[in-house]
Amino acid sequence: MIKEIEKIEEIIEYYAGERNPKEQENLVAMLREIQEVEGYIPKEAQEKAAEKIGIKTTVLSCIIQRYPSLKGENYGHEIVLCSGARCGCKGGPEIIDAVKKELKIGKDGISANRKVHVVIRNCLKQCKTSPNMMIDGKLYSGLTVEKALEIVRKL
Ligand code: FES
Repeated sequence: MIKEIEKIEEIIEYYAGERNPKEQENLVAMLREIQEVEGYIPKEAQEKAAEKIGIKTTVLSCIIQRYPSLKGENYGHEIVLCSGARCGCKGGPEIIDAVKKELKIGKDGISANRKVHVVIRNCLKQCKTSPNMMIDGKLYSGLTVEKALEIVRKL
C-alpha cells in the first residue's frame, strides 16, 4: 500500500514538472498512469494531483467522466448499454431504463452500492444481434428486459 502511494506521488511529481502540466494531454497521461497503479484513480490522488498542478479537482473529475477508460472509483463491474438505433427499435431504451432502475444508477453513472458503473454508448458495433449490452468486456446479445435484469442481478 505504501509502495502504491509512493508510486502515485512519483507520477504526480513527474507530470507536475512537465513544461505544460495543465494541458489536457498531460493530465490524461498522468491519470492513466495513476490508474495503472491501483486499477482506478483514488479521490485522494485526484486531490493531491490537482493541488500540485494548481488546478481544481473538478477539472480532473470532468476528464475522468469524459474518458470511459478512466475509473474514478473502485467499482467492480462496468456495464455498457447501447443507445443505438438498431438496438433502439428492439427495446433498447426499455432495457437501459430497467437496468438503471434496478441498480439505482446515479447521475455519475454509478450504482447505489458503488459496485457497478454504467456507460451508455451509441452503438456497440454488434447490431446484427441487437439489443446488446456489454459487461466487463463480455457481450450479451438478443436481450429482453427480463434477460438483462436476470444478468445484472447476478453481479
Ligand atoms: S445499435 Fe446497438 S449494437 Fe449497434
